[in-house]
Formats: sequence, structure tokens, C-alpha cells
Amino acid sequence: SMADLNLILLGPPGSGKGTQGERLQEDLDLPYYATGDILRAAVKEGTDVGTGAKEYMDRGDLVPDEVLIGIIAERLESGEANHGFILDGFPRTVVQAEALDAKLVELHRAITAVIQIDVDDDESVRRLSGRRVCTEGGHVYHEDFNPPKVEGVCDIDGSELIVRDDDKAEVVRHRLDQYHEKTAPLVDYYKTQALLNRVEGSKDPESVEESIHTLVSTLSLEEGT
Ligand code: AP5
Repeated sequence: SMADLNLILLGPPGSGKGTQGERLQEDLDLPYYATGDILRAAVKEGTDVGTGAKEYMDRGDLVPDEVLIGIIAERLESGEANHGFILDGFPRTVVQAEALDAKLVELHRAITAVIQIDVDDDESVRRLSGRRVCTEGGHVYHEDFNPPKVEGVCDIDGSELIVRDDDKAEVVRHRLDQYHEKTAPLVDYYKTQALLNRVEGSKDPESVEESIHTLVSTLSLEEGT
């Protein structure tokens, strides 16, 4: 219905999409599709998609559009997102954005808002160089900015914390280049559709969460929920 919240989180590597996505999911209780998490799970399980994606991910390149379009189309068609969704890390190219628009038209749905979490490259690098993720559920920490209660151990599921393969300095640089070249054009793409809502991402996680919460409350009012 018109009251459904169909949200997209857009932002460079390390901007806090995953951190905020987790909180937003708890807040709104909507299906949350983080394509990076979905791909890493596929790599771990050794599926064909995972095996094909791994080399791109390790280099910091984008995985081919058709793979990601297929992954998201399958979830939207399944019905589980019929009352709203949160997308994190998709779309990441104009081709993906156009495919999403076409799929949503087919399903008589529409994007409610795109939440752009904005940080500069230096901040991305600072954040990704100290990031730790858990091996079980992909929960995210930072050695200085968001440390776990017990060093090396996930607060939530108790699994081991590791450095992501693509968080090496040279790979982070390449991911940022890819972002500026292929994903940043989506800012204008969604501005043109009057869907873009920019949030200052360089503040502490609670402030960013508060900004997003305020924005989503306004959207819910406008949508009549
Ligand atoms: P993906 O996993 O989506 O990586 P990303 O976009 O580079 O995003 P990150 O996970 O690095 O950062 P984030 O914004 O989620 O930040 P986080 O909250 O963790 O994609 C990985 C790869 O998969 C891609 O390179 C590509 O190969 C492939 N892929 C995925 N989707 C694709 C698509 N659609 N098309 C093609 N290929 C695709 O925070 C980062 C760190 O900062 C953490 O340590 C956190 O604790 C800390 N932090 C968070 N917020 C704050 C804050 N406010 N202040 C201080 N520290 C903070």
C-alpha cells in the first residue's frame, strides 16, 4: 500500500550503511537486504554466485550487474518484502537502479526514499582501516570508534572478530574509486526523481541514527502510517 516504507541506503564504503541499517531494521522491523552481506554469505556457502563473486570482491571491483539484479529481484518477487524493505548497497550502478525501477513498476511498488549517508574519503579510510566484523552474523565493530565489550569477540553472538578481506588499504582505495565512478552518479539519478535525502554521516553513530530516525518519521507521516 502507499503506507509501505521502501527505503534505500546509499553511501560510500565505510559511510555506516551497515551500522545504520542494522539499527533501522530493529526500529522498523522490515526485511533488510545488504548485498555485501548476501554475497559474503554466498562465498562462505560456496554457491555458484559466491564463487563467481569472490574475485571481484577481493579486488574491490563491483560484481556484475546481472548477478545483483537477480539477487534483489528474487527477494522482491518472493513476497517477503511486500510491506516494505531496506536496501543497503543496492543499487550501486545506474543499470541496477533502472532495473530496480522496472521491477518495482512491475510489482506496483515505488521507492519511498533514498537515504544518502555522506562522508568524505579520508573518513571512509579511517573507518575501514579499524573495522572488525564477526564471523557468524557479520556484526560490525571498530577498534576505536565502536569497540566490542570483549576484544576480539562479538557482543551479539560471541563469534570471533576478523578484518574483512577487502579492508586492506589498497583495496579500500580501489573501492572508493569504484564508488565515485559508478555509484556516485546515483545521487543525481535520485535527486532528479525527488527521492534523495542527504544525512551527514561524519558524526557519531548515535547522531547519524537520530538524523535517520527523524527523516523516517517524517516519511511515515507523509505516507500515512
Ligand atoms: P559492501 O559490503 O556493501 O561494502 P561497502 O559498500 O564498501 O560498504 P561497507 O560495508 O564497507 O561500509 P558500510 O557503509 O556498511 O559501513 P559500516 O557500517 O560497516 O560490498 C562489498 C563488495 O560486495 C563490493 O565491493 C562489491 O564487490 C560487492 N557488492 C555489494 N553490493 C554490490 C552491488 N549492488 N553491485 C555490485 N557489487 C556489489 O561502518 C564502517 C566502519 O566504521 C565500522 O568499523 C563501523 O563500526 C564504523 N562506523 C560506522 N559508523 C560510524 C560513525 N558514525 N562514526 C565512527 N565510526 C563509525
